[in-house]
Amino acid sequence: MSYNLLKGKRGIVFGALNDMSIAWKVAERAVEEGAVITLSNTPIAVRMGEVSALSEKLNAQVIAADATSVADLEQVFAQSMEILGGKIDFVLHSIGMSPNVRKKRPYDDLDYDLLNKTLDISAISFHKMIQVAKKMDAISEGGSIVALSYVAAQRTLFGYNDMADAKSMLESIARSFGYIYGREKGVRVNTISQSPTMTTAGSGVKGMDKLLDFSERMSPIGNASAEECADYCIVMFSDLTRKVTMQNLFHDGGFSSMGMSLRAMNQYEKSFDEYKDEQGNIIYG
Ligand SMILES: NC(=O)c1ccc[n+]([C@@H]2O[C@H](COP(=O)([O-])OP(=O)(O)OC[C@H]3O[C@@H](n4cnc5c(N)ncnc54)[C@H](O)[C@@H]3O)[C@@H](O)[C@H]2O)c1
Repeated sequence: MSYNLLKGKRGIVFGALNDMSIAWKVAERAVEEGAVITLSNTPIAVRMGEVSALSEKLNAQVIAADATSVADLEQVFAQSMEILGGKIDFVLHSIGMSPNVRKKRPYDDLDYDLLNKTLDISAISFHKMIQVAKKMDAISEGGSIVALSYVAAQRTLFGYNDMADAKSMLESIARSFGYIYGREKGVRVNTISQSPTMTTAGSGVKGMDKLLDFSERMSPIGNASAEECADYCIVMFSDLTRKVTMQNLFHDGGFSSMGMSLRAMNQYEKSFDEYKDEQGNIIYG
């Protein structure tokens, strides 16, 4: 259902790889809500992924760019303004990748060159994106910039590895740049901290299926889907949230405020079954 929340707005969506990507859903919803957009992803993702299908469906041009390259980002903003016919009203940063996770390097044996890559791709690219946009004066007064984060920025979760550090930095960049861009141009900068979601990046997280189940049981309203995340992004791009900035906004069914739920506790207790003796007494091991 469309509410025309983005009627007349121009946007750039970074990070749609395939139809599981959160950015894919955001792009679809943005167009449904009346926006015109461009899409961007790495040259390899554009070649190997399914972005061209989305491009055709939404009549949205794809601009290949490595988000760690300032020159590439300048091209994305320049071309987007030309294609869409004016300054940009909203930007989605939906980019994340850890070469340490890919190469199975644990957190206490990180490769530091790879750590630099994780931070550059997953966090510093957000700074580069905003700095490029600001220098080019590419974003309209009161525009909205959103990046996607995860609760591992605040809490330690097994297996999330150096992506936790990247997400902390990403959220910090939103605050630091939110102050400057808000003060000078009324531009909002926020992060949305999304539930674990089964996507290409998500499936790289160690024990993702168990993490999904755990957070589903811990969240009173359940995990938020990629489609629901897209809905939240639309609200953040719309004029209904003009005074929301420098925030990390949890979109996680309540997970981040929970300590223990009955559903999780029931499941947790089941795991003791195999440690009972014949009399049913629990053996602590
Ligand atoms: N899936 C989850 O569980 C989850 C939860 C919370 C937050 N997030 C965040 O959501 C965002 C989107 O991830 P997703 O889950 O939709 O997975 P995804 O794999 O569909 O998207 C990740 C995207 O990052 C792009 N990318 C990687 N390196 C890049 C570079 N150098 N330049 C430009 N683009 C690059 C990939 O091509 C891909 O399109 C990420 O920031 C991720 O950390 C995901």
